[in-house]
Amino acid sequence: MKSLNFCIVILSSLSLATITKSQDPSYLYHSCSNDTTYTRNSTYQANLNLLLSSLVSNATRNNLNGFYNSSLGLDPDDVYGLFLCRGDVNKNACHNCVALASKDAIQRCPVEKVVVLWYDLCLLRYSNRAFFATMDQDPGVFLFKSDQNIADEPERFNRLVATTMNDTVTQATIATSGGKKFAVEEVYFTKSLNLYSLAQCTPDLSSSDCNRCLRIATSILPSCCSQKPGASILYPSCNVRYETFKFYNMTTVAAKPPPPPPPTQLTRPKGRGHVSIIVIVAIVIPIAVSMVLFCMGFGFLRRRARKNRVSLPEKDGKEH
Ligand SMILES: *[C@@H]1O[C@H](CO)[C@@H](O)[C@H](O)[C@H]1NC(C)=O
Ligand SMILES: *[C@@H]1O[C@H](CO)[C@@H](O)[C@H](O)[C@H]1NC(C)=O
Ligand SMILES: *[C@@H]1O[C@H](CO)[C@@H](O)[C@H](O)[C@H]1NC(C)=O
Ligand SMILES: *[C@@H]1O[C@H](CO)[C@@H](O)[C@H](O)[C@H]1NC(C)=O
Ligand SMILES: *[C@@H]1O[C@H](CO)[C@@H](O)[C@H](O)[C@H]1NC(C)=O
Ligand SMILES: *[C@@H]1O[C@H](CO)[C@@H](O)[C@H](O)[C@H]1NC(C)=O
Repeated sequence: MKSLNFCIVILSSLSLATITKSQDPSYLYHSCSNDTTYTRNSTYQANLNLLLSSLVSNATRNNLNGFYNSSLGLDPDDVYGLFLCRGDVNKNACHNCVALASKDAIQRCPVEKVVVLWYDLCLLRYSNRAFFATMDQDPGVFLFKSDQNIADEPERFNRLVATTMNDTVTQATIATSGGKKFAVEEVYFTKSLNLYSLAQCTPDLSSSDCNRCLRIATSILPSCCSQKPGASILYPSCNVRYETFKFYNMTTVAAKPPPPPPPTQLTRPKGRGHVSIIVIVAIVIPIAVSMVLFCMGFGFLRRRARKNRVSLPEKDGKEH
């Protein structure tokens, strides 16, 4: 199977323990801070295991809106955790994702207390600190296909991404309280290409925190992902994504009326033909003050690096 070319940028003040791509198609990324760890067979581990199984079992419940937060244990062994399923995902798919994530978490982060795992269909997060109802954008992960660009009318595409994401964010933010803070949108780009967008917050956030989180996420797109036919910005508290294929499982009510199609123009993603995964990791302490860049893969990505990043030695990034 041909693997996707991805560029992954991590913005984080957490230490990054592991950088791996799994075979699992729905796994996107994870972050374990090794600053705080627990010892095996400790009370903390027992509490964490209980917490994870309560999250997994709650994921089968009806009327959860794809979100559940839970905590247990007494100081200093108290643990806090939540899952968030993508807003279009049904209960079974949600439960499967959370169950996979909770197993995966222990493999990927065997002793770390502060953990976030992102999958296509869900997010799992836990910590030794209460974090519910708090907007958190650390770490931030940017994913985009490094080998593809919109070939024709890239500027119009960028503008369409900006206005559509802006709209989608507004829709996600105004979701009724208690409901999902989630929206998708489908708009016309050319005869052969639509743009599909998604925005979601964990519903424990206030509308204004959700709005803030999503606006920051979309404001990253022009610098990370200009002309890319798809990109995701993942934070612990919110995420945005757009693609030129339908990646979610629902129909949006009304696609916007198409603008007159430009004559004789074909627009399709232009591939470069490489088969490898490119990972860029930027550790930022604090965000936007200093950056360190690890680039695995091709030189052209390093040229894209912003001035304030420092390049570290390259590694071979080929995987499949
Ligand atoms: C955390 O991981 C980083 C990078 O792998 C390493 O340099 C650091 O020593 C680790 N810290 C602890 C407390 O293990
Ligand atoms: C943890 O407990 C298991 C079973 O009780 C035991 O086999 C294992 O050696 C213990 N590990 C540590 C690190 O104490
Ligand atoms: C849901 O989680 C709570 C703890 O937050 C637990 O007491 C309860 O048994 C779980 N419910 C289900 C249906 O598993
Ligand atoms: C979930 O988080 C809210 C705060 O947003 C808190 O009031 C509630 O007690 C939490 N639920 C559980 C089961 O811990
Ligand atoms: C998408 O919808 C179909 C039909 O309702 C369902 O069978 C499938 O499980 C859904 N996928 C997800 C990820 O929810
Ligand atoms: C973004 O959305 C806000 C609120 O809906 C609107 O006022 C603003 O004009 C939009 N900006 C762009 C660039 O579309």
